Amino acid sequence: MTIRALHVASELYPLLKTGGLADVVGALPSALVERGADVRVLLPGFPAVAAGLRDVHPVAQLGRRFDAPHVTLEQGTLPSNGLIVYMIRAATLYDRPGNPYLNDEHVPYGDNAQRFALLGWVAAQLAQQLDPAWSPQIVHAHDWHAGLAAAYLKAAERQLGRAPARSVFTVHNLAYQGVFPAHQFGQLGLPDDFFSMYGVEFYGQLSFLKAGLYYSDRITTVSPTYAREIQTLAQGGGLDALLRSRSHDLSGILNGVDYTVWNPASDALLESRYTATRLAGKLACKEALQKRFGLAQNSDALLFGVVSRLTEQKGLDLLLETVPEIVKRGGQLIVFGTGDPALENGLKRVAQTHPESVAVELGFDEKLAHTIIAGSDVVAVPSRFEPCGLTQLYALAYGSLPLVHCVGGLADTVVDASLENLAEDLATGFVFEHFQPRGLAAAIRRAFALYGRRTEWKATQRRAMRQDFGWGASADRYLALYRELA
Ligand code: ADP
Ligand code: GLC
Repeated sequence: MTIRALHVASELYPLLKTGGLADVVGALPSALVERGADVRVLLPGFPAVAAGLRDVHPVAQLGRRFDAPHVTLEQGTLPSNGLIVYMIRAATLYDRPGNPYLNDEHVPYGDNAQRFALLGWVAAQLAQQLDPAWSPQIVHAHDWHAGLAAAYLKAAERQLGRAPARSVFTVHNLAYQGVFPAHQFGQLGLPDDFFSMYGVEFYGQLSFLKAGLYYSDRITTVSPTYAREIQTLAQGGGLDALLRSRSHDLSGILNGVDYTVWNPASDALLESRYTATRLAGKLACKEALQKRFGLAQNSDALLFGVVSRLTEQKGLDLLLETVPEIVKRGGQLIVFGTGDPALENGLKRVAQTHPESVAVELGFDEKLAHTIIAGSDVVAVPSRFEPCGLTQLYALAYGSLPLVHCVGGLADTVVDASLENLAEDLATGFVFEHFQPRGLAAAIRRAFALYGRRTEWKATQRRAMRQDFGWGASADRYLALYRELA
């Protein structure tokens, strides 16, 4: 039996991306299609989405919804792989350039509750024949933006006496909860009793994330370790009790890598291409990178790279504290990212102090991200918490040994270069346990020590590059979950 599933999300690579969510939504649906599932995606009609789809045509007129005067459901295809994408056109809600969630001052848009309620509502309508030609058996919603989909499905089930579709909710990041003042609940058109502790109410406010966790039939998150962590008081973001109560419906399915996008053997964005057996091109990438960032042209300097959103989550404040450990050993550091202005300024200051060894650039650029992942010897991901993390997986594929904090998906994907792991041919990077300068500094010293033994370094690089984190295994697990539900 072919399973029909609708993925509901706010970003999709290559149309629109602010982080790893877009990479997942850009790759998982087609991995499922390759396995015989009938999968479509629903996105808000942000300008980049509307501009990037092909053969767009209207499917349904929805009239006035959530204060938007003319809402239309349209359908198009993704030029790269023909994936069918539904897009909600609502000019007053979505036709804003730039970041999909924040205004120019980095402040969430005042009408985000309406903007993303509409997304969840349309998803539930699609499960009720909004498109006469196709309707899903499974609605698979991602993160708080799509959290209300399950609530609208539950409301419809109450009216119809049967569930229009079964729902899966994937938590990519529990730190973003979509919390709004309680008075906005009235605009959602949900049954009154849904505003309850057993519903969307969260400490007196309204939480879209909680709606997803409470009303969906199954919950997944993006790594097995994070699935355990979020059930603890320390890392449950106030939702740990709910998550524990649903532990039988909660599982961790590791994200994958789209190796058609992230592969050093074919990556057109690189200075030079390379493979595990022919690493010469990687050196060319490193030299080009040092030049691009104005660092000393020294191919022996151990080069650490960071490509990241600059938020509290990513632990770069800790990295800042340990920059002297890198510099005094003759290493170099490149940080590329955008986000929190305080962190941006702190990073800039460190770069000014060590112009030959530390470079910081602010911005978001896909090509530069590839260039840094490829040209670095070590890719640092010292996150406080990390649901899965994709950059360390890309780093492995590019033979750039990841240096990570032992949390979430980082713990599930990188094996530390301890003596015993090296002896057993297991090591793929550097892992530190305690989120403290001393822990990170020790991992940095381990990286220098291994770099001093070039034969072992190269063997570790090759092992890293041989790791298979393709979407296959994960897509199989999602498919098994769909089958169980349908
Ligand atoms: P998160 O989703 O928490 O940001 P992930 O590691 O899962 O973390 O995914 C981050 C994704 O965003 C990766 O594809 C990474 O290359 C990309 N990325 C992060 N910062 C930038 C940037 N400044 N420019 C381009 N891509 C970036
Ligand atoms: C989130 C998480 C990240 C994860 C990504 C994709 O943004 O922070 O760890 O890899 O989603 O699932």
